[in-house]
This record gives sequence, C-alpha cells and structure tokens, in this order.
Amino acid sequence: MRVGSFEPFFQQNRVMLYGGDCLEVLPRLPERSVDMIFADPPYNLSNGGITCHAGRMVSVDKGQWDRSSGAAQDHEFALRWLSACQRVLKDNGTIWVSGTMHNIYSVGFALQELGFKLLNDITWFKPNASPNLSCRYFTHSHETLIWAAKSTESRHVFNYNTMREMAGGKQMRSYWRDIPVDPEPPDVWIEGTPRREEKTHGKHPTQKPVALLSRVILSSTHEGDMVLDPFAGSSTTGVAAIRHGRAFIGIETDPGYLGLSVQRLEETLAQMAQNPHLPTPPSQDTVAPTQLRVM
Ligand SMILES: C[S@@+](CC[C@H](N)C(=O)[O-])C[C@H]1O[C@@H](n2cnc3c(N)ncnc32)[C@H](O)[C@@H]1O
Repeated sequence: MRVGSFEPFFQQNRVMLYGGDCLEVLPRLPERSVDMIFADPPYNLSNGGITCHAGRMVSVDKGQWDRSSGAAQDHEFALRWLSACQRVLKDNGTIWVSGTMHNIYSVGFALQELGFKLLNDITWFKPNASPNLSCRYFTHSHETLIWAAKSTESRHVFNYNTMREMAGGKQMRSYWRDIPVDPEPPDVWIEGTPRREEKTHGKHPTQKPVALLSRVILSSTHEGDMVLDPFAGSSTTGVAAIRHGRAFIGIETDPGYLGLSVQRLEETLAQMAQNPHLPTPPSQDTVAPTQLRVM
C-alpha cells in the first residue's frame, strides 16, 4: 500500500488506485484491458502568472507538477503517456484529454502522430471564470476536451440516445455549457466548478466537477466497463465511474491527493451500497485484480 510501490494504494473490488508515475504504472497494466481513459494532465500553466481568486490577486501556481519544461519536452511527455495509454486501451476503446491552449495543441498533435482517430473536440464553457487582471487578453473561460479512438479501425462506443435525452430530446452538441448536477434530475444546473459538497474531504487545485465526468462516462462507456485516469488528482473520474456502475483504475503521484482520493472513493462506494436507486457497485471482475497488481 506504499506510494511508489506497484501494489495498489487502495483497492475495493474493481476500484483501484495506484500511487506512482503513470509512465511507470501504465506499462505494468495488461495490454488491451481498459474501455475508456479520461486524462486531465498537467496543463503546464503554472509559470509565475497571476489570476484573481475570490476577489484577490493570487499567483497561478497549481504545484511543481504543473510547470512547463519547454514546448519540446512537454510534447515528448505527451507522446510518452499517450502511447502508454494506447497500449492499455482495448481496440474499440477511447480516450478523453482535457486542456487549455497551454497543452491541448500538443496533445492533439501527439494523438495524430500516434495513430489515434480524433472523434470530437468539446468546448466546456465555464461561466464563472476568473476575470483577466491585465486587461490585455480575452478572459479565458473555457477548456477543451479532445475525444479520440484508439485507432482508425476502432468501433467506438457512443451512447447517442442517452446524450439526446440529456440534451432535452435534441442532439448533444460539442459545446457544453450547463451541465446537470449528478445524480439529481437534469433541471438542476451547475456553474463551471465543483459544488461545495464535492470538496468536503479537502480539495484539489484543478478538481473537475463530477457532473462533467458523469457526462463523459455516460456518453462513451457501458455499465461494468473499465475506466482509467492516469492523472487522477482527487479521483473525480473514479467518483463518477462508481456512481454509474463502472470500474475504475486511478494513478496519481502525490501522496496528499492519493489520501483525498481514498476518502472520496470510499464515501462514494458506501453511498452506492446504501442507495438501492443507484447502479450496483462494480464488483464483478472482467480483468482480475491480481493481473492488475503490477510487480
Ligand atoms: C490536473 S490534475 C487532475 C485533477 C483531477 N482531474 C481531479 O478532478 O481532481 C493532474 C494530477 O496529475 C498528477 N500528476 C502529474 N504528473 C503525473 C504523473 N507523471 N503520473 C501520475 N500523476 C501525475 C498531479 O499530482 C495532479 O494531481
């Protein structure tokens, strides 16, 4: 259970969390074992800039992990982790990668270089974005999510009818503005950041809303599928995966965020077990955990 070892840091049935660098953990996982990957990698934007938070000027510093090593090295890193992800994806599997202008063009090019098939790029609009203090740029108020299949041969999953239902009977567009709060009814809407109750155990500086991950998971996986997040942070992907009856593998380097993840995963598993209206917690193994316990 140590950080940096290849034993899972946390495991309950098909919900697993590994402590370590995804470049070391991913090669130990079985080839073609994962249905969908959601990756929220470093955006490389913590380079001494300033932003506005709660009306105060603060530095943009998410942590050492978010510093750029220069365009060439950042791109080399993108190629390495995306290639490791491609190996573990099943042939019809897909990957989602989030980003801003700081990393997303490199990620998109790397996906093309590696032979992934680009499926969509989603604009996730954030209505409560911080104002631009310098007044020399437009206010950054969206993130981009690239969705790609493992290869041009892939027959990817897209739950068209579920998405149409969520979009009120119309085709779901690639511009995501108001995302219904999960698991409440779709007439409840979130702003662009996680709700307060998603931070009861502490928070991650770049924590994604569960509702965003729910939409991603519901659109591109089936119940029981294996979802992997190589940059798990506080494991928002895991929380959404469990809520929708999917299995989860998370990988994270930071011991603090691993601890936060465990609290959130345990809480979600307990909630699922108590609520008969929610999907059955993932327990049946299609990929044996022992196979996944990397040595
Ligand atoms: C953008 S954050 C993910 C936040 C997450 N989506 C959430 O909702 O909490 C990226 C995370 O990746 C971790 N990280 C950075 N480099 C890593 C690596 N090589 N392997 C695994 N994790 C890494 C960082 O510690 C950070 O917590």
